Amino acid sequence: MVRKGHTGFVFKVALMGKILVTGAAGQIGTELVERLCSRYGRENIIATDLKFPHVPECEHGQMDVTSRDSVDEFFREHSIDSVYHLAAVLSARGEENPGRAFDVNANGTKNVLDASLRSGVKRVLIPSTIGVFGPQTPKRKVPVETVTRPVTMYGITKIFCELLGEYYFRKYRLDVRGLRLPGIISYKSPPGGGTTDYSIEMIVSAVKGKSYTCFLRSDTRLPMMYIPDAIESIIKLSEADGGKLIHRTDFNVSAFDFTPGELETELRKYFSGFSVEYRPDERQKIAETWPSTLDCRAAVDEWGFSPRFDMSRMVEDMVRNLSDQSSPAGKR
Ligand code: SER
Repeated sequence: MVRKGHTGFVFKVALMGKILVTGAAGQIGTELVERLCSRYGRENIIATDLKFPHVPECEHGQMDVTSRDSVDEFFREHSIDSVYHLAAVLSARGEENPGRAFDVNANGTKNVLDASLRSGVKRVLIPSTIGVFGPQTPKRKVPVETVTRPVTMYGITKIFCELLGEYYFRKYRLDVRGLRLPGIISYKSPPGGGTTDYSIEMIVSAVKGKSYTCFLRSDTRLPMMYIPDAIESIIKLSEADGGKLIHRTDFNVSAFDFTPGELETELRKYFSGFSVEYRPDERQKIAETWPSTLDCRAAVDEWGFSPRFDMSRMVEDMVRNLSDQSSPAGKR
């Protein structure tokens, strides 16, 4: 197979099978699939989701990760080399239906890892989350090794996935890797049921000229990252030299942090009349159990994590892209 490098020149990659993405229709999946297609060639990517994902750029199919039979059959029918396992139920939606969150996040991941093992998959990347932290975790500059006693079903299942991934690596030498993503901000496809989603909703409202009612308090500081950096980080970790990794499934990553109040102030630079009302709901309780800032040194040292966007560049880029989308030309 031939692919383009960062510098634009073409080089060869030894890839025997295909790259499978689960949760391909989600907030991260949609953009990861696009990026994988351009990096490895669309003929080498298979995008799957619970519903048939709308990804015309590559092969795509329906796969329910909670059904062991469905997962086994899919892996048997395709020659798969590596997996990006993104299918998950996020924090706020997980609290609405904890049983479903357990099934998708915990059983789904076990099904994917077992099928990977059986079919000779070389690498599985599973995003983790700041949701693995809990009320006893320190608030600032939280290192990878710290207290991880989450209180949401999302967090409980995700810390399980981190540990299960390490177990499969130690016991079966399956190369499982993962990174703890913060709130991810994006505009191409909507987020799905997270506590950090307020940030996207607030930017979208400002661009549409509407006021916004925020479900978190104005001073709730959380770690965040813009989607291009999230996608690059996921690919960078997946391509990193495994021999140099000391950690496996639990790298902290974050590019910046802010509070809803600070985001509101930043948006007023573009939309002077923009206003936000703060009406915290159940999601405030979730946010309060998470850290404000992370120590990402392990990711920097072991695989070169280097986000490009700070908060103001992210807001500028979001505002430009969302404005283009809502202009008459963008709607066509
Ligand atoms: N964005 C996620 C959530 O809010 C956290 O990783 O659930």
